[in-house]
Amino acid sequence: MKESSSQARSTWSSRWAFILVTIGSSVGLGNIWKFPYMIGLQGGSAFVLVYLLCILLIAWPLFMAEILIGRRGGGNPVSAMATTLAECGASRFWRVLGWVGILSALVILSFYGVVAGWVVDYLCKAIVGVRVETALEAKRAFDTLLGNPLQLAFWHTVFMVLTVGVVARGVVSGIELANKLMMPGLFLILVGLVFWGAVAGDMPAALHFLFDVHFEAITPDVFLAAVGHAFFTLSLGMGAVMAYGSYLDKKTSIAGTSIWVVACDTLVGLLAGLAIFSLTFRYGLEPSEGPGLILQTLPLAFSNMPGGRVFGVLFFLLVTFAAWTSAISLLEPFVAWLIESFGLRRATAAWGTGVAVWLLGIGVCLSFNAWSEYTLFGNNLFDVLDIATSRFSMPLSGVAIAVYVGWVMGKRIVAEEMRLPHGIFSVWFAVVRTLVPVAIALVFLHAITG
Ligand code: PFF
Repeated sequence: MKESSSQARSTWSSRWAFILVTIGSSVGLGNIWKFPYMIGLQGGSAFVLVYLLCILLIAWPLFMAEILIGRRGGGNPVSAMATTLAECGASRFWRVLGWVGILSALVILSFYGVVAGWVVDYLCKAIVGVRVETALEAKRAFDTLLGNPLQLAFWHTVFMVLTVGVVARGVVSGIELANKLMMPGLFLILVGLVFWGAVAGDMPAALHFLFDVHFEAITPDVFLAAVGHAFFTLSLGMGAVMAYGSYLDKKTSIAGTSIWVVACDTLVGLLAGLAIFSLTFRYGLEPSEGPGLILQTLPLAFSNMPGGRVFGVLFFLLVTFAAWTSAISLLEPFVAWLIESFGLRRATAAWGTGVAVWLLGIGVCLSFNAWSEYTLFGNNLFDVLDIATSRFSMPLSGVAIAVYVGWVMGKRIVAEEMRLPHGIFSVWFAVVRTLVPVAIALVFLHAITG
């Protein structure tokens, strides 16, 4: 199927294909790298509890709103905004929302690709059987990687080529196919790892750590971290969900499909946490290690446990698949915009965008070593890009999407697109109009003032 503005747009081949690719977008480094280390840093179960509430009450309703705009607009995020605002007679100002989404997605991809590159490096080390015997050795290995710009740039390049290669092939024969191949593999590996964690690790300790409720540990910071992460993990505010929603056929229920995505994304995060902490506790390692949790702490466990090499390879393969399918969804919105606005060939649009993102990523690679003294308020380029997107553009887009769907598009259009029973629709609509924007705005204000 040719995918240009002059032709009918592609649609996913089935409702399940949409569910799978959207799970592919949402399940990523956020679930397997970030979620477990945030649980570790934010006091375990308190964070899990608040996070689950944030997913249910804030992120999921917003996720549906974002799919809704994409499908109603039937185009890339910029044109979807233009079409829907023309339909409801709103100000052209709202188009900004589409722009912020597709550009922020590229910014995220530039550093996401670098972190994914670390994972591919660890995968290769696991395959050739590199072992670390002490915590110091594990830390040194990670620091050596960060200190070597060529090695970082090499793996970043490999990962970007993999990502662009898929997007260049098209919506159905590229994105959908890649997800159909990788996502079942991801689930199988994850289940295998949890099983192994139960056998070789200390699962009761992990269960206590994740699920014993400690209300006293819930602080505003925990709440802040949980909302931010709920956004990141469901790929909200970046145009990715909107773009994927635009390839969804009109008959499919948005609520019915989104429930699968939200449930699977949450489950994957929790299962990954269970497997990781079972090993962390079994080998007496530190759960609050921070970003180094899966790159420094786990390799130590792999080196010490029976079958650790196989476990290590499977684990890093899992993370690579997860990161790859998410990166694809970060690239697609801008590529779709280029194709639909300028009639570019998909391959040209994908490789051209890929090169621009890759270049920014090279800057990120250098920010850990040669350029580490160039900082803004003490933050290197990597941190600046992360903060700009996760603390600013994501929450601001989130509030704007909720306000747009809740107050601007008009109830008739929204109801027509959602096709929910009246009572359920009213609850969802009320949440999108009130709870979602207010909660995100409060969190945002706390983030910038605190
Ligand atoms: N949801 C992905 C993760 O959890 O790793 C990250 C992500 C993908 C964020 C796509 C935003 C996005 F548009």
